[in-house]
Amino acid sequence: MSTLLLDINAVNNLMNMPDVINVVEEAFRMWGEGKANMPAKAYLLVEHGDFRAMPAALPGCAGMKWVNTHPQNPSRNLPTVMAIMIYNDPETGYPRAIIDGTRITAYRTGAAAAIASKYLARRDSHTIGIVGAGCQAYTQILAHAELFALSSINAFDISKAAVDRLISSLPEFSIRNCSVQEAVASDIVCTLTPSRNPIIKKEWVIAGTHINAVGADAAGKEELDPSILKEAIVVVDDLRQASTGGEINVPIKEGIYTIDEVYGTLSELVVGKKKGRTDNKAISVFDSTGIAIEDIAVAKLLFEKAQQMGGYPSIDLIGT
Ligand SMILES: NC(=O)c1ccc[n+]([C@@H]2O[C@H](COP(=O)([O-])OP(=O)(O)OC[C@H]3O[C@@H](n4cnc5c(N)ncnc54)[C@H](O)[C@@H]3O)[C@@H](O)[C@H]2O)c1
Repeated sequence: MSTLLLDINAVNNLMNMPDVINVVEEAFRMWGEGKANMPAKAYLLVEHGDFRAMPAALPGCAGMKWVNTHPQNPSRNLPTVMAIMIYNDPETGYPRAIIDGTRITAYRTGAAAAIASKYLARRDSHTIGIVGAGCQAYTQILAHAELFALSSINAFDISKAAVDRLISSLPEFSIRNCSVQEAVASDIVCTLTPSRNPIIKKEWVIAGTHINAVGADAAGKEELDPSILKEAIVVVDDLRQASTGGEINVPIKEGIYTIDEVYGTLSELVVGKKKGRTDNKAISVFDSTGIAIEDIAVAKLLFEKAQQMGGYPSIDLIGT
């Protein structure tokens, strides 16, 4: 027996966005059908950031992602978010693979938001607003481009260099550097910052907009003016995580918003238990905290592809 090692180069070779969107949507479907097992993620807070342990099981696979968020890392030439995945055989527990989870995190986060947009954004959406042009911005654009005919992308970041990097890294897209208000005046808005204070004002949001609120994924983080949530159709990835660490966590703590006001979960939309957008004038918000079934579904995809293709290194990690 051996454990496959898939580093970032292997992950880059094996992963593509259309496949990731398919397996992530299927994971939400299986969860909605009661076929997944996923405790809420556990947080370990440290002085300059945090770690999260994210275990999950889907039919035929189990495993865990160990991931950090350290917002000051870019000044040290390190990504804010880095991750390792352990992928196990659910029958024996044997560790079948150790996989770089950093790229998986970015791809599945983009995929989950694009799937939410598929159910919640107007069908004719063709402009995307990016607020926070860091690592997650790239995969938000790649994922939405798979599901929408994008004509232009309006990007804002407090660092102009971040937007310049985004523009030069994705030359195939029409991306322009703009103000935060202009970014918010897009059909679909993706907020992707580690902000702890609302940065999106209610008066900037046009009727019919869909917002993917992705940046708030731990207690105290918040990107949207809470009055946006009061009027919007709010869909979460996981109610337990969203209420303690997602976009709704601070408004709930402050008594401005209640769990009862959440319309539903993305799984409920995927399995058809609840309807997606029915009114072109409504404002919708997907509160993304990032859930472990997304990661394990992508790990399974990569493991199976690597086994099929062969040629990837493995080690006898536990000596059996
Ligand atoms: N929901 C999820 O599944 C999920 C997954 C991964 C990351 N995240 C979260 O998303 C956020 C971004 O992650 P990343 O990996 O892209 O980080 P990153 O450090 O690569 O990028 C963050 C960007 O936001 C910009 N920024 C900071 N404050 C801003 C503000 N007030 N207005 C505009 N821009 C601002 C920074 O300049 C930077 O370019 C983090 O909070 C991270 O924890 C969530």
